[in-house]
Amino acid sequence: MALRLSLLHLSAVAVLVSFSFLFRSGELATAPGACVSHDHHNTLADMFPNNATGVLNATLAIIPIPLETARRLIPPQYGILEDAYRFLVPNFLDGMYPVLVQAAHDHDVQFRAYGITLDDFSRVGFEFPFLDLTGDGYSSFRWAPSQLITATNDVAIDGSSAYGTAVSPGEFEPLCDAYRWLSKNTTYFRGSSISSSEFVELEMRRLPHPALNPYPLQLFKNITNQPTFANATSCDNMIRLFNTTMSVGEHAPVSVRGSVKARVFPFQGGEQEWTDVYGVQVATPFIENNYLDCRTLRGYSGTGGPGDSYIHGDSFDEL
Ligand SMILES: *[C@@H]1O[C@H](CO)[C@@H](O)[C@H](O)[C@H]1NC(C)=O
Ligand SMILES: *[C@@H]1O[C@H](CO)[C@@H](O)[C@H](O)[C@H]1NC(C)=O
Ligand SMILES: *[C@@H]1O[C@H](CO)[C@@H](O)[C@H](O)[C@H]1NC(C)=O
Ligand SMILES: *[C@@H]1O[C@H](CO)[C@@H](O)[C@H](O)[C@H]1NC(C)=O
Ligand SMILES: *[C@@H]1O[C@H](CO)[C@@H](O)[C@H](O)[C@H]1NC(C)=O
Ligand SMILES: *[C@@H]1O[C@H](CO)[C@@H](O)[C@H](O)[C@H]1NC(C)=O
Repeated sequence: MALRLSLLHLSAVAVLVSFSFLFRSGELATAPGACVSHDHHNTLADMFPNNATGVLNATLAIIPIPLETARRLIPPQYGILEDAYRFLVPNFLDGMYPVLVQAAHDHDVQFRAYGITLDDFSRVGFEFPFLDLTGDGYSSFRWAPSQLITATNDVAIDGSSAYGTAVSPGEFEPLCDAYRWLSKNTTYFRGSSISSSEFVELEMRRLPHPALNPYPLQLFKNITNQPTFANATSCDNMIRLFNTTMSVGEHAPVSVRGSVKARVFPFQGGEQEWTDVYGVQVATPFIENNYLDCRTLRGYSGTGGPGDSYIHGDSFDEL
């Protein structure tokens, strides 16, 4: 109990400062040949110097699974808010539940006021959104029970493990980006554990028109702005902004369709493959509020309008 309470009160500052020796050694270790990413730089650090900020360049895709399977995989104490996802996608397949697979590159993560920077890393995992963690019948939370994370990034691995996430140190292809181009319209991503047979692989093809995507962008905005938890000791409130120059105009989210192969917790029974998987590829800047008491996020509905993650302020128009 004492441990639990102290974790709940641990602030992101405390965690980042206590790991700061790792950040510094990471900087010293940056040598020629280190990762050079194509990702856009962090546009939020200037504006939020006292918060952890960064960029996530990601493939976000929905895998529909039977509600019965979802019920078996998700811990029984968390209700599934079917009305919440049907509100966003009214014609979502009957008897099905949307699992999110998120394959991302974390870039230019900073805590500007403390001069702290974090080495880039990749990560991939399955996330179970629209869960009633606090029992109020409407606040959506996202269970992210396991992740593959770049093996050399101890800070990222420890930071995620502190939530109770089953983290597997992994190696990624490509090394320093969100995905690799196989051809003009096809991308590839693979993360595989260096200590087990776990892996996740995505091959996605860009759709010629967003209307071919059965899922509205609002679904992805909504899910990626739901507070995340693993063992529910604490929650991660990551605010993903879709309304900066990084995600509009020429960088607007691109609809994709493809296949996902994986062997990873909490799915059981060996390797699985899903074809005809739809999603988006988009880079967003984020602000991350770590290790919060989940109960304080009851009723959380993003920072802006319904389901939106827009932060009000004129300066955002120029980012
Ligand atoms: C996201 O990553 C892809 C693959 O490296 C790259 O082509 C794209 O420019 C990146 N987008 C942004 C906004 O950083
Ligand atoms: C920045 O961090 C502070 C302190 O943790 C928090 O109160 C505030 O809500 C954060 N800002 C945003 C935009 O999340
Ligand atoms: C959740 O995980 C954290 C980190 O491993 C651990 O300290 C905590 O005791 C766990 N809580 C529960 C309820 O299992
Ligand atoms: C790639 O996508 C563009 C735009 O959707 C399309 O015009 C082009 O034919 C596609 N190329 C290939 C090789 O499929
Ligand atoms: C972005 O913000 C502007 C106001 O500055 C608003 O007109 C626009 O609808 C917003 N777009 C999105 C995608 O949130
Ligand atoms: C997600 O959508 C639901 C409607 O189903 C809404 O009530 C909720 O506020 C949205 N949450 C976020 C974080 O955008």
